[in-house]
Amino acid sequence: MRPSGRRRSGVIGENQAVERPETPSRSGSPLVGGSPTVGDDGEGTALSRGEIPRRRDIVLLGSTGSIGTQAVDIVRRNPDRFRVVGIGGQGSNVALLAAQALELGVEVVGVAKASAVQDLQLAFYAEATKRGYATGDFKLPKIVAGPEAMTELAQWPCDVVLNGVVGSLGLHPTLAALRAGRTLALANKESLVAGGPLVRSVARPGQIVPVDSEHSALAQCLRAGRAGEIRRLILTASGGPFRGRSRESLADVTPEQALAHPTWSMGPVVTINSATLVNKGLEVIEAHELLGVPYDDIEVMIHPTSVIHSMVEFTDGSTILQASPPDMRLPISLALGWPDRVPDAAPAVDWRRSHVWELHPLDEKAFPAVALAKAAGRAGRCRPAIYNAANEECVAGFTAGVLPFLGIVDTVARVLDEAPDFPEPGTVDDVLAAEQWARTRARELIGTAARGQADARPRGFAEGA
Ligand SMILES: NC(=O)c1ccc[n+]([C@@H]2O[C@H](COP(=O)([O-])OP(=O)(O)OC[C@H]3O[C@@H](n4cnc5c(N)ncnc54)[C@H](OP(=O)(O)O)[C@@H]3O)[C@@H](O)[C@H]2O)c1
Repeated sequence: MRPSGRRRSGVIGENQAVERPETPSRSGSPLVGGSPTVGDDGEGTALSRGEIPRRRDIVLLGSTGSIGTQAVDIVRRNPDRFRVVGIGGQGSNVALLAAQALELGVEVVGVAKASAVQDLQLAFYAEATKRGYATGDFKLPKIVAGPEAMTELAQWPCDVVLNGVVGSLGLHPTLAALRAGRTLALANKESLVAGGPLVRSVARPGQIVPVDSEHSALAQCLRAGRAGEIRRLILTASGGPFRGRSRESLADVTPEQALAHPTWSMGPVVTINSATLVNKGLEVIEAHELLGVPYDDIEVMIHPTSVIHSMVEFTDGSTILQASPPDMRLPISLALGWPDRVPDAAPAVDWRRSHVWELHPLDEKAFPAVALAKAAGRAGRCRPAIYNAANEECVAGFTAGVLPFLGIVDTVARVLDEAPDFPEPGTVDDVLAAEQWARTRARELIGTAARGQADARPRGFAEGA
């Protein structure tokens, strides 16, 4: 049996009632309060069958995205359990924001792009007309706009903040929600990757409930044991659209091919990250940050059908897994309702027919992104933030057609290799400095690759010859 003392205690999944905003209680431990228990140990707020918990007020950051729209669907189907009081996004889809706002009757709407405010106001009136509302029939929500809008929303009075924005810009709202004492349903893995030590220094035990299906699975598996009894975490990965392919065969794949995920329908960045397996790398760091399990004890296995969402091996040799057909509404609903399950959140496995569940080791030569993430995580000192920021630039370069698919992870590796010695992040500015360096260096390398591609093109290519 491995000594449990090597692990810190976790921030996820305590069986705690969600309360109205309060100041987080802190101890000297990075895990603030340091309870060794993760998962529902059966004590506390058990509901009797059919009993409905008190309705929770929810703020949805990224309400127009893949996670956000599925969260809206859950709320729509469970008005007795959840009420949305605030929504927000970048502002690139004001029509959807306005429709969500009027349907859900929210108090506040946020857009990060300040220039979107006028369009949003027009969209409100268009939506109201569509719904046949007369003036006075509806109250326009408050609008907050600009780069701080998500952070403002994250502090709006509510029970649960769902952070479903994409990218490391989610770090500020993550910290704001935690500091305001909200339960944080965390989909935005990048904020934990970029600022893990900061997030841990602010979070109370049990204050973060993961939305990612893998980490939700881990939290659910942990209801079968205690943090000190974990021997190994096994994260599953579908393998993406290029599963089983050799590294050589990936040289010419296109963004369209990379965006065709076999089992999950997600936003574009996370879909490309799934094709490179960078997404799994981010999730390994996320699991380490949430549960304090050393990187050597976190495995990744390829599971093509995405029915097993992850597993925990315990010290007695038991492995507990969580299985359900791929449908994000299950982990999202559990994160909103934690520790209570939302009935019929998603279809269950059909146990009246045969199933074969394949599990294969990861081909690290074709997909080096997970090993790279573990190396970055072990090194610490802002390396995870650099891994993520460089990747965000590379994904943009790939989708713009200026970086080849293999160039994504190769460039991230090179940026990590060249990175100067940053400190362990003590402030958001430390993270931003490392990210800024990584983005600049990644853009330089992408620019060089693009110029190389242009030089290698046959004469007349630009003219369509
Ligand atoms: N999709 C999944 O199944 C899934 C599963 C697990 C984890 N996740 C994680 O969840 C997060 C969201 O993923 P997604 O697939 O839902 O992404 P998505 O479909 O691309 O949606 C992103 C959301 O973030 C908003 N946003 C983008 N830039 C913003 C900015 N600068 N400020 C404020 N909001 C901004 C977008 O608003 P606009 O619409 O206005 O652009 C949109 O609402 C990611 O961290 C991802 O890794 C996703």
